[in-house]
Amino acid sequence: MDRPVYIAFEGAEGCGKSTQARRLAADLDAIHTRETGGTAIGERLRAILHDTSVTDLDDHAEALIIAADRAQHLAEVVRPALAAGRNVVSDRSVYSTLAYQGYGRGLPLDDLRRINGWAIGDTWPDLVVLLRVPEHVTRDRMSRRELDRFERAGDEFHRRVDDGFVEMADADPEHWVVVDASGPIDTVTATIRSIVRERLGL
Ligand SMILES: Nc1ncnc2c1ncn2[C@@H]1O[C@H](COP(=O)(O)OP(=O)(O)OP(=O)(O)O)[C@@H](O)[C@H]1O
Ligand SMILES: [Mg+2]
Repeated sequence: MDRPVYIAFEGAEGCGKSTQARRLAADLDAIHTRETGGTAIGERLRAILHDTSVTDLDDHAEALIIAADRAQHLAEVVRPALAAGRNVVSDRSVYSTLAYQGYGRGLPLDDLRRINGWAIGDTWPDLVVLLRVPEHVTRDRMSRRELDRFERAGDEFHRRVDDGFVEMADADPEHWVVVDASGPIDTVTATIRSIVRERLGL
């Protein structure tokens, strides 16, 4: 690619997104960022979203708070970085909304695409790396920490989210790549590195 690229990591909780996004960003000397919470305003919105004492958040309100985080993130971090010629590696993106609020919560995907397309000014990721690990592995990785609002949403919810990610990846192979993330961290890093080299020439 002859322009800076926007790479997003997606996948279930505990699949290794943060670990691998940090490593790829360092390797590419890219801007490393995340959704939700990649900005000061986003951190405040994220606090509401993950707070386990929030038990009555309407699904539409949840989707709009996340879209607000995303609008701020794109305006403050992603677009300025790309405009300055920097590659961007993001821990989650607009596709998390399609998976969690769409496939997971059951909100209409077309509405979410429209609202979020407006929020991000049509800056969609150039490449989405979907990390996949068997359910028992994520469960084991997550068992060591306190669960937040999304993580407590139950197995059925998370199965729908995971199916949603796979469906989106299958439907758009030009932008998505699915990586088996069940092996050792270094092996997964090397696989991702070679895919990024091959797909984007980086
Ligand atoms: N390939 C791997 N093998 C073993 N452990 C791993 C691997 N990748 C990540 N981990 C560990 O699993 C835990 C979750 O990883 P990480 O935080 O990167 O996942 P995540 O996808 O960002 O999770 P979340 O969605 O909750 O933010 C961490 O303790 C991390 O060190
Ligand atoms: Mg993470």
